[in-house]
Amino acid sequence: MIMDKPNLKVFETVDNLLFSLADSFVEIGNEAIEEHGRFNVVLSGGSSPKKLYELLASQAYRNKLDWSKVHFFFGDERNVPANDSQNNALMARKALFEPLMIPEANVFAINTSLSPEKAAEAYMETIREQFTEESVHFDLILLGLGDDSHTASLFPHTTVLKEKEASVKSVFVEKLNTDRITLTAALINQAKRIFFLVYGKEKAAAVETIFGKVRDAEKYPAQLIRQDSRTSWFLDKDSASKVES
Ligand code: 6PG
Repeated sequence: MIMDKPNLKVFETVDNLLFSLADSFVEIGNEAIEEHGRFNVVLSGGSSPKKLYELLASQAYRNKLDWSKVHFFFGDERNVPANDSQNNALMARKALFEPLMIPEANVFAINTSLSPEKAAEAYMETIREQFTEESVHFDLILLGLGDDSHTASLFPHTTVLKEKEASVKSVFVEKLNTDRITLTAALINQAKRIFFLVYGKEKAAAVETIFGKVRDAEKYPAQLIRQDSRTSWFLDKDSASKVES
């Protein structure tokens, strides 16, 4: 590890990053299971986390957590069928759930067979049913970062950015000409821990916007995510190359 700011962890290689994040994932998981009998974790989509899911399902980690007590949710989903290669839940199913034989009852995927609006409503209902407390506090939320500084499906200049409610919303993303279903920033910010998993030099400019002086969440939506000691950034040196040490 080169630099360890309160919530900024920069690694020489992506592998070092993934092993460190996997260690923290199982540590938080075991603490949550110890504390309240289950680990409520929100997974990220996109391509970056696939290697992490494969690592968690590997010999190195598969015996480090009681996976029968892990409940999986998703931060966002594309408006595509469950068997579509672009479906985030399908990616996690192949990389993590199937290799670990995670019971279907522990997987809470967004139901994209419904309209985006109905899928968002239904998902918030599903989440509420899994939490006894009034407000929902996931143990850990895993997020990625797009090169346009979007996270989950909180894209620049979209309606969902103005949402103050801790909820799940559908949003039309003009630049992708498609709908997405996403947790709102308010719901994400209620999590006990937030991990950003970001690597590759193409992400360096976006990472810089998070820690930079220009504050404009409409333009850089990941700025909506709270930045305190409960939020950790796992970066490789390329994606961190524009962040001042
Ligand atoms: C999604 C993700 C999204 C992702 C970023 C980064 O559904 O696409 O949830 O927020 O994390 O787009 O994606 P990559 O990891 O593929 O660069």
